Amino acid sequence: MAGSQFVVVANRLPVNKQVAPDGTVSWTRAPGGLVTALAPVFDRQPGAWVGWTGSPDCADDPQVDGIDIHAVPLSAAEVEDYYEGFSNATLWPLYHDVLVKPAYRHDWWDAYVSVNRRFAEAAAEAAAPGALVWVQDYQLQLVPAMLRELRPDVKIGFFLHIPFPPYELFSQLPWRREILEGLLGADLVGFHLPGGAQNFLALCRRILGVDASTGPVGVREDFGTVPVGDRIAAAGCFPISIDSAGVAGQAAGEDVQRRAVAIRESLGNPRTLLLGVDRLDYTKGIDVRLASLERLFATGRLDPADTVFVQLASPSRENVDSYAALRDEVERTVAHINGTYGTVDAPPVRYLLQPVPRDELLAYFVAADVTLVTPLRDGMNLVTKEYLAARHDLGGALVLSEFTGASMELGEAYLMNPYDEVSTDDAVVAAVTDDDAERRRRMTALREQVMTHDVDLWAQSFLTALQQQSS
Ligand code: ADP
Ligand code: F6P
Repeated sequence: MAGSQFVVVANRLPVNKQVAPDGTVSWTRAPGGLVTALAPVFDRQPGAWVGWTGSPDCADDPQVDGIDIHAVPLSAAEVEDYYEGFSNATLWPLYHDVLVKPAYRHDWWDAYVSVNRRFAEAAAEAAAPGALVWVQDYQLQLVPAMLRELRPDVKIGFFLHIPFPPYELFSQLPWRREILEGLLGADLVGFHLPGGAQNFLALCRRILGVDASTGPVGVREDFGTVPVGDRIAAAGCFPISIDSAGVAGQAAGEDVQRRAVAIRESLGNPRTLLLGVDRLDYTKGIDVRLASLERLFATGRLDPADTVFVQLASPSRENVDSYAALRDEVERTVAHINGTYGTVDAPPVRYLLQPVPRDELLAYFVAADVTLVTPLRDGMNLVTKEYLAARHDLGGALVLSEFTGASMELGEAYLMNPYDEVSTDDAVVAAVTDDDAERRRRMTALREQVMTHDVDLWAQSFLTALQQQSS
């Protein structure tokens, strides 16, 4: 049997198929933090990536340098039921503190099971004997157990890129048992934060009635274990990161630096340039920062004549109702703020709903005085880390929600509680008005953390722990 020794299995491939109205096909970088984190892992080791192209009914295998791509085609009905339905209208809101009410539909569950099985079969085909297979994220939680049945010889890791909820939320799920059993097919289940791993172990105890315990496993102190038949599955936390040196190097490039100056000029060289960069997702708190901006303009704490807020939003899950509703709300609020506080020449909010090329994104990071990262809940938030890595000048300031995974590592940010208007407004004002020495002191500490904890460290610590875990 041929195949790869290292196989990543993720809902999405690192590239996305785009078909223009005239039928021209192009492949662009896929959206989201998972691809941002995993793509650089292949620079270190060759391997295969099993995933979906992002387009219904597409069986093309795109070419991606250095990665053996295995596309898993999804029909239009599967995209609707497995991806938009169970993954993004059931699991996503449930795992993000039920910010939107999750829908529990048995037909969506059936699609989730059958698509997970297809991913497991594709992974079983792509893996060499004894390979290491790394399954990613909430869309594929049944794959570990399914793959183990097909290929008991491979080592299986699973990493969850979003929060893992406590019993009070998770137990709403009619298929709570099946999801836990699916995850326990892995030798190692990884989470961003200790809280996720602890929730998982507590759920295994309470829902499956197994003797899940916490305690050191291998080299790690912060692990737990769960007996599964005659083997042991481990759980632990591994905070994800970015290719920090790569981002820093690219951002320091002459073109990016020049473009950053041009961006400020094109915006009228405002005294304060505020920035938001997100997928258009209700978890990101785009509404929170817009509401804060309006209050700060209304109370005179910020002057709309010398403040510009740029929100770069990347379209996401547009067929899911809650995302369409968010888009309407954001667009209404932007228009309201500009109509009330702007002039025809100088609207204080600039909003773009298009993915921005990498260099351009970095130029915005370099140009910004303050970046606003205000999610109501976020597993990690890699935009935060990209912003910090991009600021080798130690300029800028970071407003960061306490409800992001990133805030656990980045305590020197201007932390805020997005549920509290006072906390939010005060953090924004402090980030804008603190003197340069204070902003620089904070930025120095924050950047140091990101530059010394990169994605390589994340991947190697997960893969080392997985290797040490005996099946
Ligand atoms: P999530 O995984 O929920 O999308 P992250 O912040 O962890 O959130 O990762 C988002 C990734 O998508 C980052 O690499 C970020 O640079 C990228 N991204 C977000 N918004 C845009 C945008 N408007 N244009 C281009 N890239 C974007
Ligand atoms: O990081 C969370 C995540 O859902 C990833 O699994 C996903 O690739 C990314 O965000 C973007 O979401 P989507 O694949 O639904 O566009």
